[in-house]
Amino acid sequence: MELKTLEIRDLHINVGGKPILKGVDLVIHSGETHALMGPNGSGKSTLSYALMGHPKYEIAQGDVLLNGESILDLEPDERSRRGLFLAMQYPVAVSGVTLQSFLHAATSAARGYGEQARSQGQGRFNSHLMPLREFRQELKEKLALLQVDDSFLRRYLNEGFSGGEKKRVEILQMALLKPVFAILDETDSGLDIDALRLVSEGVNQIQKEIGTGILIITHYQRILNYIRPDFVHIFYQGRIVTSGDAKLAETLEEQGYEWVQQQFGAAS
Ligand SMILES: Nc1ncnc2c1ncn2[C@@H]1O[C@H](COP(=O)(O)OP(=O)(O)OP(=O)(O)O)[C@@H](O)[C@H]1O
Ligand SMILES: [Mg+2]
Repeated sequence: MELKTLEIRDLHINVGGKPILKGVDLVIHSGETHALMGPNGSGKSTLSYALMGHPKYEIAQGDVLLNGESILDLEPDERSRRGLFLAMQYPVAVSGVTLQSFLHAATSAARGYGEQARSQGQGRFNSHLMPLREFRQELKEKLALLQVDDSFLRRYLNEGFSGGEKKRVEILQMALLKPVFAILDETDSGLDIDALRLVSEGVNQIQKEIGTGILIITHYQRILNYIRPDFVHIFYQGRIVTSGDAKLAETLEEQGYEWVQQQFGAAS
């Protein structure tokens, strides 16, 4: 497996003119699992959206490099084609688009079907899509892996899905897209105890299969029992203030963020 690198270098992000990220440095290699923990409003989701290229997040300073090459000028879909994936904290519902057609389109795009069609001058007849039979076959496997019922495929994306169902579907998407780097933003929130284990096992299997580098954002140590982090980083007031191994997550669980505030708060 080829070693890949995602490097965040002194990243500063403004939202609506207000500085939210204030110098984030982080390097993730393929196969590694990094956990990012930090209080509400510290900027964790801002980091994940900025990495994906959400237009609302203005880059004030710094860089993001994928295998040494800056991706900041790339559109979100191009970042996705290069293997970046975000499982959102709040997945959005899309009325009128079924889960199956969404997954089909996303998987096809990630595998470059659109590019092929464009370069061959065929923009029509679904030539930008992966052959349906091939897609269905793979989809079936992944549905089984994440225990998502077939009937979901005909429903509109996330419309009326329960909190836990949405999270499961995010990881189903990850299983199909086979990302080089995946950001999981509070994937554990809303999952019941059995689903948490199942989804975690799914993530572990994907990582084992393709060597995905993972950044997992969470408030709770529990999911880290299943998805073991190599590194734990504490995010506070827009930056990583300290890092450690899995034990750091246990310290947080026991002691909360007061010591973080004392040591790294804005006054210091
Ligand atoms: N459009 C906006 N205008 C003003 N402030 C914003 C905007 N978007 C985000 N923020 C602020 O940026 C800060 C960081 O938000 P973010 O969602 O990144 O936090 P988070 O660490 O993911 O929190 P949580 O743990 O609650 O998910 C918050 O204070 C939020 O209110
Ligand atoms: Mg968040």
